[in-house]
Amino acid sequence: MTAPVFDVARIGPGEGSIDPRTRLRTDAPSQSLDGCWSFRLSPSPALAPHDEWTQGETEGWDEITVPAHWNMSGFGTPAYSNVQFPFPIDPPYPPDENPVGDYVRRIDVDAEIRQVMDAGGRALLRFDGIESAADVFVNGIRLGSTRGSRLTHEFDVTDRLTGAGDVIAVRVAQFSDGTYLENQDMWWLPGIFRSVTLLARPVGGIDDAVLTGDFDHETGHGAVAVTTTAGAVLEVPELGIRVDVAAGRSTVDAGAVEPWSAETPRLYDATLATASETVSVRLGFRRVRADDGVLTLNGRPIMLRGVNRHEHDPDRGRVHTTELARRDLVLMKQHNINAVRTSHYPPHPELLDLADELGLYVIDECDLETHEYEYVSWRGNPSDDPAWEASFVDRIRRTVTRDRTHPSVIMWSLGNESGAGCNIRAMARWVRENDATRLIHYEGDHSSRDTDVYSRMYASHDEVRRIGEESDEIAPAGIGAAELRRRSLPFVHCEFGHSMGNSPGGVKEYWELYERFPRLAGGFIWEWIEHAIAIEDEHGRRAFRYGGDFGESVHDHNFVIDGLISADRDVRPGLVDYAAIIAPLVITVEGDRRGIRLENRYDHVDTSHLAVTWRREVDGVVVAQGELDVPPIAPRQRGVVPLPAEARTVSASSVADVLTIVAALRDATSWAQRGHVVATGQRVDAGAPRLGAAAAPDQGEFDRRGRPLRLGSLDVVEGPGIGIWRAPTDNDLFPGWDEPTLPPMAERWALARIDRMQTRVRGIRPEATALVVDTRVGAPSFDSGVDALWRWSDVPEGRLLELDLRSIGSWDNAWIEKAPFAWTVDWARLGIDVTLAGAPVGMEFAGYGPGPSYPDTDSGVHFGWFEAGADELVTPHVRPQESGSRRGVRTAVIRTSEGAVRVSVVGGEALDAGVALTVSPWDRTTLSTTSHASLLPAPTATHVSIDIAQSGVGTATCGPGVLPRHRLPARDASFALLFETV
Ligand code: GAL
Repeated sequence: MTAPVFDVARIGPGEGSIDPRTRLRTDAPSQSLDGCWSFRLSPSPALAPHDEWTQGETEGWDEITVPAHWNMSGFGTPAYSNVQFPFPIDPPYPPDENPVGDYVRRIDVDAEIRQVMDAGGRALLRFDGIESAADVFVNGIRLGSTRGSRLTHEFDVTDRLTGAGDVIAVRVAQFSDGTYLENQDMWWLPGIFRSVTLLARPVGGIDDAVLTGDFDHETGHGAVAVTTTAGAVLEVPELGIRVDVAAGRSTVDAGAVEPWSAETPRLYDATLATASETVSVRLGFRRVRADDGVLTLNGRPIMLRGVNRHEHDPDRGRVHTTELARRDLVLMKQHNINAVRTSHYPPHPELLDLADELGLYVIDECDLETHEYEYVSWRGNPSDDPAWEASFVDRIRRTVTRDRTHPSVIMWSLGNESGAGCNIRAMARWVRENDATRLIHYEGDHSSRDTDVYSRMYASHDEVRRIGEESDEIAPAGIGAAELRRRSLPFVHCEFGHSMGNSPGGVKEYWELYERFPRLAGGFIWEWIEHAIAIEDEHGRRAFRYGGDFGESVHDHNFVIDGLISADRDVRPGLVDYAAIIAPLVITVEGDRRGIRLENRYDHVDTSHLAVTWRREVDGVVVAQGELDVPPIAPRQRGVVPLPAEARTVSASSVADVLTIVAALRDATSWAQRGHVVATGQRVDAGAPRLGAAAAPDQGEFDRRGRPLRLGSLDVVEGPGIGIWRAPTDNDLFPGWDEPTLPPMAERWALARIDRMQTRVRGIRPEATALVVDTRVGAPSFDSGVDALWRWSDVPEGRLLELDLRSIGSWDNAWIEKAPFAWTVDWARLGIDVTLAGAPVGMEFAGYGPGPSYPDTDSGVHFGWFEAGADELVTPHVRPQESGSRRGVRTAVIRTSEGAVRVSVVGGEALDAGVALTVSPWDRTTLSTTSHASLLPAPTATHVSIDIAQSGVGTATCGPGVLPRHRLPARDASFALLFETV
């Protein structure tokens, strides 16, 4: 028999599968069908052969591994687009160019499953994820179809299997009617990308069951709600529970229990058993509520310190591996994150097991996004077309049903960016009728009429403040009942802090607001992982690629590279910053070192699991340290702890006397070792460097333009000169959402030409104790620039530079003709640029580190004496851009393959704050004109910038640009540096 026409353009859910069931662990036999399948790719459904393939005729076919995406397995190439659709909006039709993958596997059914079947049991064929639509056949008979790429479908194959040599055949289309509901911002990755399993269903087994734990914080008692298709015995050994439960719904009193929370992920093993099957569940007792505008768990307010997580593996795409999922969640926990939104589809089921176990709140999102309709002003949006209702409801039903036993899931999200409409309402209705134990989240309809929380993405700080005050207005017609209700809901910032490139800035300011207003329940950084795809480049090296690199005609470049960790799971500086901002303990050293203030920001636990230690370092040497006796501070309470005399002392120093307080885990947990640092507080008292008498230097050591030929033991290749530009970060290239009509910063810089400034030496004057060089740095065609007076002298310690900088001309756009709006040319930075001989080898520095920071991303750094190796100097952003600045540096040794130089701050305004030091293997022009990190040339020199001031980085790619307080308007400066040979 030949396969019938493959219909991939009919509105509706898949058909032929059984009703969705809860994902349960069972002792009923199962057989994994993952592994090697026969595979054939056709260019479109019309061209897919109607031969005998469903009966196992696969001669000449290729092979593919399941689970995998075929375009990550050598059959085609991946493609990336965000909001824009890769084909015309012509629902429900996919384009003609619509690759079709045929999969065939011949199986012998395992003896255990055959036994169950011989005894009258059934067999199910389960698919956990097929993108985007499939027809399923067993031994040539079509069983039905799937829709909903990240949703589970099970087919009853009892009457189709013979037991030996059975042919499982699946025809998969990359695009289908379903694609109109799956326009998430990610790679288009077709295929059977999650597991395929054959399941035995024993006679008298538990076909479906829901077990959820409820916690009553007033009594401290738990209850188990059980819904089961078969009468069974419920056992929770730790609680002494062993009861018979009838088919249907029942509630079992669990007595006194320890509740589950992200901070106390207490799970109880439970089983539900009939004579023929035992299913096991890890029960967590918790109750989530929206109480009078406050999000609570177990009766206490909770703060969501969240991230958005897509499933991404740089080598496999959205194929899950336990190892990477665990690594992600452990990394989250280690960085104080307590919540994940599974953007924008239900994750692999195992992720939720891990979230239950490690302790993370989950917003489990339905596989739904119709964002492409934004391109046509939402005309014809399926969300409001009754013809699509069954598809929408099927999707949420499959989401909720699969995941409803997990205590970690505290909200169901109806989908992402799909506008408003009757089908969104129908989904919410279905959830309300079927699961009362979680809240409903959806961002796409700002009226919140169907949700339990008010959710927004990338709202400005000002708007978030107004939301906190309940004074924000979205219904201009006035404050009706619906608007009042919306304002009474807890607020969730489901996306904020867009982590694209050197980013996100302004997160601390959001957090201050979340902490201030009880209505604000926290937020989720966009996003966790960069979705770069790894390839082997022409030199055989591992390299990362983004949108457009695979020949896509419609794509969104590197907008998919916007994570707190790289695709290879390297921590980006943004994550270190976020971890400190959301730290559950805030440590403040009182001004005079009398004591410390501790603010416990945990919602459920006191501080007794943390050891608080102090350490005093003077010029890099630890002079005293000890542990503080901190009485347990209750959740959301504060305490003050005195410091011992040795910690309070401040000695004279040349660099700094630093008191550091660290709170670390007393005992190992499932996600960190004993001693893992949770929070840090500091007090830095700057030292006063002393210099001997100055003398004029030998003019022969300078070139004819008054520039030193050497610094330390290093030849100067270029400069030193004055710089106010940086290699644009991703954020610099976008107008902030707070200034949408103004040119992005990078464009302003280009218009003002500060990226190609020219220097004129106005005079070189030998004086008694110095060589004085007067320069003017100006932008071509304009009269704006920076005048710099360089005073070079020799002191016994080395070569001294005293520098005076004066901004000249105007730095608004008045001088740029026909500009329709007023704007300023804020500078990227203000400092010295010098290129030194030799490729960089590393540096040692006393300053804020160990990693890079900018004025609005400086929470995660602390003062110390650090070393950075050659590969730690700058951040290997996939699209090259400015990075690597170490701030508050007082002294540093820069090492290149040719030698070294020590640079120290010895005077001027930098004495208090230090300087920002950037040591880079590449100059800014190279960085700004190279598209991929892997294409950067091998370093030949070391590019050093010593900045007295810098601009923040903001989050303009999505959200506000650099906040006014972190910008750098044109300004004057003066400071002094000492260069020494080491
Ligand atoms: C949001 C969207 C995300 C992602 C982000 C930009 O609008 O929900 O999926 O596209 O913008 O990176």
